[in-house]
Amino acid sequence: MNDLFIAPHAKPLNGDEGLIYATWKFMRNPLEGFGPLAYSQGIVSVKQAGIQMHVLTDPEAMNAVLVKNAAKFTKAPIDARILGPATKEGLLSVHGDQWKKQRRAVAPIFRARHMSDLSPLVAEVVDGFKARLGQGKAVELNAAMADLTFDVLSKALLGDPKGLDRDRLKVATRRVVTSAGTLRPDDLIPWPRGTPRPMGPRGYIALRKLKSAADHLIKTRKNDPGDDLVGLLIGAQDPKTGERLSLREQRDNLIGFFIAGHETTALTLTWALYLAAKDPSGQAHIRKEARALGTDNMSFETLDKLPFTRAVIDETMRLFPPAPIINRECQETCEVLGRTINPGDVLLLCPYVMHRREALWDKPHAFDPDRFMRNPELRGKSAPYMPFGAGPRICVGASFAILEAVTGLASLMADFEISVAEDCFPRPLMTVTLRPEGGVKATLTRVAE
Ligand code: HEM
Repeated sequence: MNDLFIAPHAKPLNGDEGLIYATWKFMRNPLEGFGPLAYSQGIVSVKQAGIQMHVLTDPEAMNAVLVKNAAKFTKAPIDARILGPATKEGLLSVHGDQWKKQRRAVAPIFRARHMSDLSPLVAEVVDGFKARLGQGKAVELNAAMADLTFDVLSKALLGDPKGLDRDRLKVATRRVVTSAGTLRPDDLIPWPRGTPRPMGPRGYIALRKLKSAADHLIKTRKNDPGDDLVGLLIGAQDPKTGERLSLREQRDNLIGFFIAGHETTALTLTWALYLAAKDPSGQAHIRKEARALGTDNMSFETLDKLPFTRAVIDETMRLFPPAPIINRECQETCEVLGRTINPGDVLLLCPYVMHRREALWDKPHAFDPDRFMRNPELRGKSAPYMPFGAGPRICVGASFAILEAVTGLASLMADFEISVAEDCFPRPLMTVTLRPEGGVKATLTRVAE
């Protein structure tokens, strides 16, 4: 076995720093605010600012909350605070019966049948990106991948929208993601549910533009929804009751898809390309596999012909889960790993820490995609691997994300070699998603057939 690349890791606390320092670290980068206990035991409980919090880093504990007792938890007030302004009435934010209705109506949009239709769109956008690279170029991966995944998503969602400037929509969405979707120290204050979160004028203006673009689009499609994802969303019906989504629900879901769907996939591709650059033999393996299938043949149906590329994507999301912490608030008493959780307690479920625990993973910080080839069970329900969450609220767009990340990476690697500077070790920084601090400067160079 070649020497494995040891991926950058958010430096945990030593455990003897004291509460004030730990809180300060947590506010700057939550992933650096966890001590050794979070890495050695499945549940750690602390009381902060009068709130009882539990940090969960174990598959059994996570499943107890997300699957077994899912109905006893809601999303935490911090989610409502961050996501509320953009998507208060969308799937990402709603609870109870409203969530059940929306989930039943929206889930069919992401079924395999529709994913097959999306494969050519992914190919078209990736081909356009490759054409712009020409024989090769230096790029900042994070920005380039955010552009690419936005273009895929906007094509998938909107088809060819008349009277809508796609570039302006992209700028507005990016601005909303970077202003509203970026954690700030004041987000960690336990504000009561519903406390508004100031965003700054640029964020407000961008959000207004995004909402009015979404409203306009939904209005113009009223009589002829079309068969792209937005058409499916407008026509979506709860199969149990026949109820449709209200106009507000349609708009907030459309915005929710943009927000939840492009940054997460962009980060997966950014980190995957970074890791490929640091692992030349892995990179060559992806290229060989991609060329054997042929870029024209990459689709939802042929994903199983790219098993190593898929393993690279899984290993990337293990090391750098785009959603590194999932929050919940307890509504009804229950037990997690023998500990009583009471109404009002806040839970921080940390895929990032779980994915890097010594007790759960062999060489947890090493980039070793073969581990998913050797042991496909690592993707199983009780495995310590949950980049898309688990249970009834598991990511509804997961198959879309996998399609885009796997075929996008394979297609890029089929034609280009990627390299980064030897001393490129970006710090994993949790904003809301897990970004490489300062971005990743890479060079993509076309390789001969
Ligand atoms: C690699 C890419 C992605 C990752 C890692 C990811 C991760 C997640 C996670 C962890 C959750 C669960 C959050 C929770 O339980 O609180 C979630 C939910 C969700 N995701 Fe994704 N996601 C990705 C891509 C997408 C895409 C492409 C879309 C849509 C176009 C999407 C739409 C959603 C929505 C609407 C929810 C809320 C589901 C519900 O509450 O019923 N995501 N995602």
